[in-house]
Amino acid sequence: VTIYVPRDAAALALGAEKVAEAVTQEIAARGIDAKIVRNGSRGMFWLEPLVEVEVSGKRIGYGPVKAKDVAALFDAGLASGGEHALCLGEVEGLPFLKEQTRLTFARCGIVDPLSLKDYEAHGGLAGLRRAAAMAPADVVKEVTDSGLRGRGGAGFPTGIKWKTVLDAAGDRKYIVCNADEGDSGTFADRMIMEGDPFVLIEGMAIAGLATGATKGFIYIRSEYPHAVATMTEAVEIACEAGMIGDSVLSSGRAFDIEVRTGAGAYVCGEETSLLNSLEGKRGVVRAKPPLPAHKGLFACPTVINNVISLASVPVILDKGAVFYRDFGMGRSRGTIPLQIAGNVKHGGLYETAFGLSLGDIVDRIGGGTATGRPVKAVQVGGPLGAYFPRTLFDTPFDYEAFAAKDGLIGHAGIVIFDDTVDMLKQARFAMEFCAIESCGKCTPCRIGSTRGVETADKIAQGIEPEKNRALLADLCNTMKFGSLCALGGFTPYPVTSAMTHFPDDFAPTPLIEA
Ligand code: NAI
Ligand code: SF4
Repeated sequence: VTIYVPRDAAALALGAEKVAEAVTQEIAARGIDAKIVRNGSRGMFWLEPLVEVEVSGKRIGYGPVKAKDVAALFDAGLASGGEHALCLGEVEGLPFLKEQTRLTFARCGIVDPLSLKDYEAHGGLAGLRRAAAMAPADVVKEVTDSGLRGRGGAGFPTGIKWKTVLDAAGDRKYIVCNADEGDSGTFADRMIMEGDPFVLIEGMAIAGLATGATKGFIYIRSEYPHAVATMTEAVEIACEAGMIGDSVLSSGRAFDIEVRTGAGAYVCGEETSLLNSLEGKRGVVRAKPPLPAHKGLFACPTVINNVISLASVPVILDKGAVFYRDFGMGRSRGTIPLQIAGNVKHGGLYETAFGLSLGDIVDRIGGGTATGRPVKAVQVGGPLGAYFPRTLFDTPFDYEAFAAKDGLIGHAGIVIFDDTVDMLKQARFAMEFCAIESCGKCTPCRIGSTRGVETADKIAQGIEPEKNRALLADLCNTMKFGSLCALGGFTPYPVTSAMTHFPDDFAPTPLIEA
């Protein structure tokens, strides 16, 4: 029998290591012939640690399991899928999982993350094999035709970026994976790296074959030590097996990967700042142009893509562009791994085709707030994303639909707040965050964010509120149009959306005003 105990960081934070130890002890004490696999997470965090047992080809789940529950679970016959209060039945049958369309996350939580054999048995390597037999331009075309857009947040067409690098002249070209997942409430990159690292390696190798790049770097934030460890081990395994290295899958074409760790700056998720950091320089933003696709790492043509963009490529090459682009709506094709977080009942990862309404995601899938109080605001797209009120819950999850409502879907982080949230404090937080994380290169962001914090404080204190509200709005306008990168340029999104949709919170001192 095979027993699965996740090693995903979220499961570990909830006690999975102690559960694994307890399971090991019970197996030994009871003389049960069982193998423990440390899998990734299925993405249902309220059920973690989720222990699964494979019985007659089906995976029966138990969760959330605490170490102290383990003996009783074995008493109830866990090893053969026995009944217990924590038994959830067949995991694939749970509504949260059943209704998803898992393409990028097809294997996450199912396979042993470091078993290449398991990876292949679950459809892995098929995309790379196909790409290795194709001309580079045809691989690029397949990705372009799939409609895949950058999942890091900006939504730029991945195929067009790859074509720019393919067409650029250069002796050396690079593939850089941006795994500096810094947005609040996001964890999709981490889950892939911890739960299915080979899919990212495969995506990068395909990108290398498609553009002529021979070297790849995965830049992982230092706050993700488990992802760093898993990715490093997976790269070694992939290299030994010939999946990457001197001859990718015996194609005669080389592609190497190195894992690098960041140093804790949010701005190093911005692509040019990340490239500086990779080169060993201070993580300061570079002016564009030149685009990294023309002059990126060490001034060479560079594809820089987010983890999820690259991890979505293998399924596109395997099943074809038409299969992938069939999912979604408008110009948002394929699937998106929603990351539902904050004050929510059912938080976790939900991969689905674009197009679900925000209300459906928050109320039906997320099950509303964990506190049981009404939802007041939802921030979509990380700390630089806009706050949406209930009146905008009919907005479909789509790049253009969110932009039309002055928001962004970003890296698809969705953070939910109940009616106790103070939106003026949230607006102040956005400015404070920007002040702390600013790289300092340009004035609107460096100085503007500090002035923004002060102005929000004045409004909170009731000092000339009308004048200071106008000043804050004006400051947002300057930052939006005058900043060099998205950090300063997008900080106005949370601030102005909070002011627009929750004006009452910006008039907190009726006693003074009256
Ligand atoms: P951008 O719109 O400037 O660029 C998007 C990408 O397309 C870049 O890689 C750029 O080099 C490339 N590009 C643009 N024109 C091109 C062309 N003609 N040929 C080839 N490549 C081209 O956006 P930026 O500043 O890179 O990203 C901003 C986004 O980052 C925001 O939308 C935000 O949602 C997101 N973000 C994500 C975070 C995360 O943790 N994942 C954190 C903070 C922000
Ligand atoms: Fe640096 Fe902020 Fe300017 Fe971006 S907007 S370049 S983070 S100072």
